[in-house]
Amino acid sequence: MNGCFSFGSGRSFHTAVTVRNGPHQPSRPEPQCRHDKDENMTPTRYAIGFLCAFGLASTAIGGPRETLIDRYAAAAKAADPSFVGFSAARGETLHRTQHNMGKADTPACTSCHGNDTRSAGRTRTRKPIEPMALSVSPERYKDAAKVEKWFKRNCDEVLGRECTPLEKGDWLAYMMNQ
Ligand code: HEC
Repeated sequence: MNGCFSFGSGRSFHTAVTVRNGPHQPSRPEPQCRHDKDENMTPTRYAIGFLCAFGLASTAIGGPRETLIDRYAAAAKAADPSFVGFSAARGETLHRTQHNMGKADTPACTSCHGNDTRSAGRTRTRKPIEPMALSVSPERYKDAAKVEKWFKRNCDEVLGRECTPLEKGDWLAYMMNQ
């Protein structure tokens, strides 16, 4: 995964910048985007410099997925001040564990979404579900209302309760890493 895969808090955002620039240009955080020294770094200029430094545009910053993840991160931090970021590994555990806490025929997320995140799953009525891995289903997780609706329904079916913001962020981190 790349250095941009760092969710939520301002802290991890900065970590991503450091990781990305560190080995190559330790003393120049924005190597491709230098501005005249006497210009003020307005937020816009800063954002432009940041985008150039990353070589990325809307995919990494400010998209609906990132907004949603920021929201989950803020809620996770509010629930637990020691929160430092989401974990794809925790998300995978959530996804694969046979919880057996909700409905009898859906002990796990994999009961419907299947064991391979890059392959189609099936509903209990055998209707296909597009793969959950972002790499093969790039349109996923852009619609916050849709994501929330299915988290609510599916977490209830599998865990017998709603997922926490931490669980949602971890699970999304896993799928976006797939
Ligand atoms: C009973 C079957 C079933 C189970 C179990 C299930 N899901 Fe789903 N899930 C679906 C269906 C059906 C959809 C909607 C169809 C689609 O998005 O392709 C969906 C969609 C989603 C979405 C929205 C995807 C998007 O594109 O926005 C998320 C998030 C999600 N599921 C998470 C989970 C998690 C987390 C678990 C385990 C806690 C889980 N699901 C377990 C059937 C299931």
